[in-house]
Amino acid sequence: REQPKTTIVIFGATGDLAKRKLFPSLFNLYKKGNISEDFAVVGVARREWTNEILREKVCESIANVAESTDQERAQFATHFHYLPFDVTGKESYKQLNELLTDLETEFKIPGNRIFYMAMAPEFFGTIASNLKTEGVTETNGWTRLVIEKPFGHNLESAKQLNSEIREAFNEGDIYRIDHYLGKEMVQNIEVIRFANALFEPLWNNRYISNIQITSSEHLGVEDRGGYYEKSGALRDMVQNHMLQMVSLLAMDPPIRLTTDEIRSEKIKVLRALRTIDEREVNQFFVRGQYGPGIVKETEVPGYRSENNVNPNSRTETFVAGKLMIDNHRWAGVPFYIRTGKRMKLKSTKIVVQFKELPMNLYFDKNKDYLRPNLLIIHIQPDEGISLILNGKKVGPTGETTPVKLDYSNDGVDAGNTPEAYERLLYDCMLGDAANFTHWDEVDLSWTYVDKISKAWELSDKSIPLYPSGTMGPIESEELLIKDGFKWWPITD
Ligand code: BG6
Repeated sequence: REQPKTTIVIFGATGDLAKRKLFPSLFNLYKKGNISEDFAVVGVARREWTNEILREKVCESIANVAESTDQERAQFATHFHYLPFDVTGKESYKQLNELLTDLETEFKIPGNRIFYMAMAPEFFGTIASNLKTEGVTETNGWTRLVIEKPFGHNLESAKQLNSEIREAFNEGDIYRIDHYLGKEMVQNIEVIRFANALFEPLWNNRYISNIQITSSEHLGVEDRGGYYEKSGALRDMVQNHMLQMVSLLAMDPPIRLTTDEIRSEKIKVLRALRTIDEREVNQFFVRGQYGPGIVKETEVPGYRSENNVNPNSRTETFVAGKLMIDNHRWAGVPFYIRTGKRMKLKSTKIVVQFKELPMNLYFDKNKDYLRPNLLIIHIQPDEGISLILNGKKVGPTGETTPVKLDYSNDGVDAGNTPEAYERLLYDCMLGDAANFTHWDEVDLSWTYVDKISKAWELSDKSIPLYPSGTMGPIESEELLIKDGFKWWPITD
């Protein structure tokens, strides 16, 4: 196991992301021996915390993460240092530089620095530029910037942010996080496709009739009403996670598994996405907003009654869309996507539906006719693959029956499965950017999404409501029905 030597600066160390994801991920890496004893984390934020307070918070956040003793956790926490920080004040950056230099000397770390932006996006640009002008990025090792979403609000603001961070960091040193790319089964898409002789020959418009990607949640907006009102499901989920899954499913095999080769294939998919004309947006995209309802046997309020949400809000909490990829491989094959909050299921699944046989010998209009073959990739909460075939019903009969071949990751060293953030942090330390988003992908995905959001902004049509605890508005079913398809139940 490689043990990269680096210091990590977490901007927003007092925040939720640091507590829920970053500290636990670092602890897991530490426990597994993936980071050496010689590492240091500097947490910075506005609050007047001390090293002791940060270390206490770190210990609390990792208490139930991996089997460990109090002593182990306390030892891990000694690697953490806190600096009260004013992101706009030069003095803070000077202090940070001095602290990092001291830690590098103490732990013999060769000037490698990761700057992790785990805070409000409006400061990303300011921080990057101050890091450069105050010399914090001038070291005799490498410096990398890890940046969380949202990466802009539309193409224009994303470009602005990008040009700000590019003043201080090269594209190759910018690690834009899309946590879906760290998920075990999202990473498995490439392996399923490119390590099996069975699928690649069929992976095109001759054999696949449509692909369906669902990412549904039980949760509502929780305490993020302020952010979500300006974002909505299209920007929050489609621009990044959903389009990333589409490009992994649709890309051509890369010539090798390097960051650049994979990215360039993914980018080609995004370039081939058929642009949605504002006038025809309703034929391709459906939006919805959750009303009151019942989720997991509990009554929940509608979106418009949530905190920091306008009582007349037209923000979408659900999106379903039909994406067409105009290239040789995919011409004519719809990629249907849907994502929403407060839905019946918490589930992310991909269903690949194969075409019907040219001739069906088993068709009998009085009986079950053949089901199309399906390949289902279970991303979460369960992880695995299912293949739905047709077999013969057992016994003296000529009837067919669906047969399901299942593979599940559950139980395969599950306790040791790294979480998305753990994997991504480690990749960043190793300098492997394959599972991060390149600027070109951000650019193309915003270009695609902006057309849709603009059409919705201009539209005076009311937004369909769906009761919480359902799979979205009826319009989402209709989107497929008019093409002769249906959403496959994702509990299968
Ligand atoms: C985030 C969105 O990027 O992804 C959230 O901002 C959403 O609104 C979350 O809840 C979903 O992630 P996961 O891993 O739970 O599917």
